Amino acid sequence: MIAPVAGLYAGRMESLALYIHWPFCLSKCPYCDFNSHVREVIPRARMVAALRRELAFEAARLGRRRLTSIFFGGGTPSLMAPEDVAALIGDARAAFAADEDIEITLEANPTSVEAGRFAGYAAAGVNRVSIGVQSFDEAALRFLGREHSGAQARRAVELAREIFPRLSFDLIYALPGQDVAAWRAAVGDALALAADHLSLYQLTIEPGTKFFNAHARRDFLLPEVELAAELYDATVEEAGLAGLAAYEISNFARPGAESRHNLAYWRYLDYAGVGPGAHGRVSLEGTLFATSRHRAPEAWAGLVERDGTGATVEEAVGPVERAREALLMGLRLAEGISLSRFAERTGVALMAAVDEAALDDLVEVGYLVLTETHLRATAEGRKRLDALLPVLVR
Ligand SMILES: C[S@@+](CC[C@H](N)C(=O)[O-])C[C@H]1O[C@@H](n2cnc3c(N)ncnc32)[C@H](O)[C@@H]1O
Ligand code: SF4
Repeated sequence: MIAPVAGLYAGRMESLALYIHWPFCLSKCPYCDFNSHVREVIPRARMVAALRRELAFEAARLGRRRLTSIFFGGGTPSLMAPEDVAALIGDARAAFAADEDIEITLEANPTSVEAGRFAGYAAAGVNRVSIGVQSFDEAALRFLGREHSGAQARRAVELAREIFPRLSFDLIYALPGQDVAAWRAAVGDALALAADHLSLYQLTIEPGTKFFNAHARRDFLLPEVELAAELYDATVEEAGLAGLAAYEISNFARPGAESRHNLAYWRYLDYAGVGPGAHGRVSLEGTLFATSRHRAPEAWAGLVERDGTGATVEEAVGPVERAREALLMGLRLAEGISLSRFAERTGVALMAAVDEAALDDLVEVGYLVLTETHLRATAEGRKRLDALLPVLVR
């Protein structure tokens, strides 16, 4: 049993990261299990009104906190009208004390129509875009069922670079038939487009997706574990050559260009989630709450119209769970976990949250490093985090 250290968890968190979910897409990609929906006509006015109302609900109970970042995620937020994005940013700035250099990110798909809205988003206050490129290769894009071509992706990235001070894009690797040399060249080319941040995801087959059934029917085969690992290593090397370090398992950045919003998740700081299916971890009157919202857009909007929020769950997160979550998130980061911040945030001393014998073993084999101030996973340890955590965490 993990014993909380009395008086340690103050349950106060001054800073806040804000996530806003836009749940609509032009089509459903066959690999994707995010909360995204296709509608003939998007109920734009209703959705935006509900997002603004739920944001006001959160603001009223959270108080005038310091706001470090806003992230418009999806779904496809680049289907939103720039004036709607501006209205939500305006509401957030009015409700919270926004940092002078607040990071405001919008996830964008690279079709030409969406790229055409980039200038409008910048005028609305967005200062960072995260573009869902996935691949620059036409055959790979067809396999992934994407609505855009490689050339469009390139143009979207080039346009974004002119318009936004900060830019990231997503790639998916470990596709059927992918070989290391071709992938290495593709990543090198992509990085030459001068993004300062790259998110790289291994293709995962999620239950409930089209790919899940196709993969079960053996319509395609995924690369073996060893090849997938080689592809990852090649990416780390190419990113390193371009000056981007793997600051988190799947995320690479130039020094200072790390995603502040995502760092708030990994450092286990407070974040509020607004919109259908959005999650949050917010400190309220000395207690950390896990919040989640109804996933279906119209049902969520109905709840917001009735109650001010589409919340389905608002649960206090106890010390054991806080410690577990902070470990799971923090070990993903190259910087690891600060022992003092961990104790402050969770109310539990880190050494009380882990199995000490397992920790010694994992340090011995070179997967973890423990210093006076930090626990961190080595690069080899981070690759094996899924296997390592169940052994480590009590
Ligand atoms: C929530 S999606 C939204 C981005 C945007 N709608 C798009 O598709 O470009 C965020 C990212 O998750 C990644 N992703 C989604 N499903 C995945 C899967 N099954 N395997 C690997 N990466 C996935 C993609 O790289 C995607 O860009
Ligand atoms: S990957 Fe992006 S565009 Fe495709 S369904 Fe998922 S959220 Fe929508």
